[in-house]
Amino acid sequence: LTVDMTKPGVNVSPRLYGLMTEEINHSYDGGLYAELISNRIFKDDPKQPANWSAVESGGARATIELDSKQPINKALTTCLKLVVTNANGKAGIANSGYWGIPVKPQTTYTASFYARSDDAEGKLTAAIESNNGNIIYATASTTLIKGGWKKYTLKLSTTASAKPTTDARFVITASHAGSYWFNLISLFPPTYNNRPNGNRIDIMQKMADMQPKFLRFPGGNFLEGDLFATRFPWKETLGPLENRPGHPGCWKYRASDGMGLLEFLEWCEDLKMEPLLAVYAGYTLKGDHMDAGPFLKPFVDEALEEIEYVTGGVNTKWGAVRAKDGHPAPFKLRYVEIGNEDGFDVSHSYDGRFTQFYDAIKAKYPQLQLISTVGGKDGLGRRTPIKSRVPQAYDEHYYRNAWEMEEDAAHYDDYDRKSPKIFVGEWATREGSPTPNMNAALGDAAWMTGMERNSDHVIMSCYAPLFVNVNPGAMQWSSDLIGYNALNSYGSPSYYAQQMFSTNVGDKVVPMQGENIPTQTRAPNKRDSARNVMPKPIPAMFYVATQDTKNGILYVKIVNASGKAQTVNLDIKGAGAINSSATLTVLKGSGPQDTNSINEPEKIIPVKQEITAVTKNFNREIDAYSVNVLKLKIK
Ligand code: AHR
Repeated sequence: LTVDMTKPGVNVSPRLYGLMTEEINHSYDGGLYAELISNRIFKDDPKQPANWSAVESGGARATIELDSKQPINKALTTCLKLVVTNANGKAGIANSGYWGIPVKPQTTYTASFYARSDDAEGKLTAAIESNNGNIIYATASTTLIKGGWKKYTLKLSTTASAKPTTDARFVITASHAGSYWFNLISLFPPTYNNRPNGNRIDIMQKMADMQPKFLRFPGGNFLEGDLFATRFPWKETLGPLENRPGHPGCWKYRASDGMGLLEFLEWCEDLKMEPLLAVYAGYTLKGDHMDAGPFLKPFVDEALEEIEYVTGGVNTKWGAVRAKDGHPAPFKLRYVEIGNEDGFDVSHSYDGRFTQFYDAIKAKYPQLQLISTVGGKDGLGRRTPIKSRVPQAYDEHYYRNAWEMEEDAAHYDDYDRKSPKIFVGEWATREGSPTPNMNAALGDAAWMTGMERNSDHVIMSCYAPLFVNVNPGAMQWSSDLIGYNALNSYGSPSYYAQQMFSTNVGDKVVPMQGENIPTQTRAPNKRDSARNVMPKPIPAMFYVATQDTKNGILYVKIVNASGKAQTVNLDIKGAGAINSSATLTVLKGSGPQDTNSINEPEKIIPVKQEITAVTKNFNREIDAYSVNVLKLKIK
């Protein structure tokens, strides 16, 4: 492999590696969003109080049902009614959380709820307890004030000896017989940066470790919704939780919208990422669309208001709303994406819709870079590239297996540089479930060498989906970067491959060439036989080099997708003096199917080693099935 420092390379985009997110696989509810109570406002199932049950023990008698006759406001319309006929023992309500309530030692949880009773007084006691009620991990009580809704807030602390478990539930018990109503029952553990209504610390830290440069939100399909009425309702995701009704998501469960527009922006702030805002563009997943013209205008206006909420000063209408929500400072916004995957719009209305959004947004915000969701080179007959306006970037999506990723790793090498820039807004090697395995990480790494080498043109990229709750029934999309249950989280091999790439990148590509690169050939499949063609060999090694011109560090990434260790001769042409010691970080498993899981979270992690006797031309053995980053100091 020759790294040629005599030839000027192209610039590396400063925003090459980012994150993409949406409510899928319980990404927020039961995931990043730290709320522990599921169905806190009782709208998940109109027929029954899903995830809630009556507590009756020691002779006590209690029943529960949904009740919509005691609305608190327009959002909190359904409450939970508890009737205690015998309070001798333990009578109350219990929530099973998102596949359990996580118990951690020495942890203070904040519980809050609205409660009312017209006939009972006495105590309400909140507790985190084992599912059989035998172990009380944390508890606190309050005195119920008779008549009218009142909000109660309690702190519950576990002791140092509490054993971590998810075999626990949250209960509220009543000391007296009578009728009780509850709404907006919430329980939060400590959150990242101590934000109220904030995020899980462990998952935020995993993302922070990737040093992502931007966050694409709120989707994905979640932006579009199945119907016009179920698109991402950003206005209803603002302000106090009391005002958020939630909405039916498009991934088979209702979204609480506790993760609202401001929370997305604060997530960006916490991880120093730029927001990349996707605005709803008049096309829904079930195929309805609004043609360009006066009927589309309300959606365009809504997008303009949303941009104002993000970027407007406090003297603007929506900037003032943001200030009232607790964030007077505007957010910096550079990119706005118009819609999501509008190539699936068989009515071909996107050209007109895009144009109407483009013109309105550019008229008010000429500095914004606008992204089309239809790429330039997809070659699928059903897709309609936009013709009437030239976007600043195309969003292209790639979901493939490892072979396809490796076969196409040079995809962007010959892309027309005169076309709009490319944003690879969703991509993943889909092998392994619920999280990808080592073979997927190899496919990903091969693909990333191509994006990085061409990052003068591929200016941004983000893997999707980002998250999965690994409990049975929680997942809609297999192969997700980061997995978790209520208590713990882990990174897949693909997560670590991406972390290695995104945290080891310079600002200039250094041209790199290979000779005698080993090849691999896949087994023929049915499609090959039908077409009477045999698969062609493709490279089994992939590589890219970048340099940080400020400090001279040279990053050389080498992916060996073959089952054999390969001796590489690395020739660094045109380098001045070079440090004789360097670091080599290697990601590998026991084989391509090896993987991480919730029970073996760190089976495959990057291992860093110092290597010595480095010169401008040296040999190094590269392990089978491995992703490698060599960090060299050029003096
Ligand atoms: O990442 C999962 C889904 O794949 C996204 O919601 C959608 O944009 C794409 O089809």
